[in-house]
Amino acid sequence: MSKLATEITDFQVVAKFLGVILKDGYRVKYLKVAIGDREFWIKLPKELSQSFDPNLSVGVWLEIRGTQQLERKKGILKLEASSFSIANAPDTSLSQAAPVTETNITKKKNQAACILICQKSDCWQSGGKEVYQRLEEELRDRGLSDRVQIQKTGCQKQCKQAPNLVIMPSKNRHSNVKPSQVDSLLDRYFDNAIS
Ligand code: FES
Repeated sequence: MSKLATEITDFQVVAKFLGVILKDGYRVKYLKVAIGDREFWIKLPKELSQSFDPNLSVGVWLEIRGTQQLERKKGILKLEASSFSIANAPDTSLSQAAPVTETNITKKKNQAACILICQKSDCWQSGGKEVYQRLEEELRDRGLSDRVQIQKTGCQKQCKQAPNLVIMPSKNRHSNVKPSQVDSLLDRYFDNAIS
């Protein structure tokens, strides 16, 4: 019997608040939290984002409820909160009652997240250098630098469509990439850093 490609379940967890990830420099897009010894990013829908208290102290405990979506094929786990509130010291029994799924698949994905960008002359001189710089800036701004590596490569044999890059581990190739497309590329592949 085949398993569903995407599994959506509810979750409820007590987690330590580590900070937020902003979108466009001001909108709170994700809560960064620690669950056990792992860090997770939990997406906030617009209504929760708008009511987020910017004075929330790092280190407080939050009880968070929401849905988790596991895309088996890509090995992506997406978490989205439906509510959260300040909680008392961690309640082990609560955390263990409905833990966030932690799978080997997601671990593998985290290890392999990488952008391979061609640094040979056709690509580099056709805007590849600017794409590379934009990738670096954008990954840094999103707090993804330690999760998504950028690797310069030799010729990817697609010189006529320079500049070229490949997203790993999905191996999706993108050609004629413009710096202005970096934002949407990262949204598409690394929108949720939990993945
Ligand atoms: S120079 Fe980049 S693909 Fe050949």
